Amino acid sequence: MGTRVASLAGLPDLTPTRVDVDGVPVCLVRLGDDVRAVHDVCSHQEWSLSEGGQVFDHEVECSLHGSTFSLDDGRPSSLPAMRPVPTYAVTLDGDDVLVDVSVALNGATAPDF
Ligand code: FES
Repeated sequence: MGTRVASLAGLPDLTPTRVDVDGVPVCLVRLGDDVRAVHDVCSHQEWSLSEGGQVFDHEVECSLHGSTFSLDDGRPSSLPAMRPVPTYAVTLDGDDVLVDVSVALNGATAPDF
C-alpha cells in the first residue's frame, strides 16, 4: 500500500512537493482530489523537479531547462530530456497520502547521476 508521506489537506494544489519515501526522492503533486508521484530527479540532468517546477495539464516542467514530464506516465513531452522518470502508485486513505516506491508503474529506471 505504501508509505505515508503527507496529509492531503496539507498538500498545496498544483505545486510540486519533494518528499523522501524510503530513501527515494519523490515529486508529489496534488491535482484536486487526486495525487501523482514521480521520481524527483529529472532524467536530463541531476535536478529536482520539485525545485521551482511548474505544473499544468498533468505535467511538471523542470525549472532548469524546461522539459515537461507527464504526471500520468512519466514521459517527457519536450526536449532536452528524452527518458521518462519513474512513476509511483499513490493511495489515498482518508487524509493520508501513501506512496509505494517498490516498483515504478511505468517501468522506468531512476536516474543515476
Ligand atoms: S535538468 Fe531537467 S531539463 Fe535539464
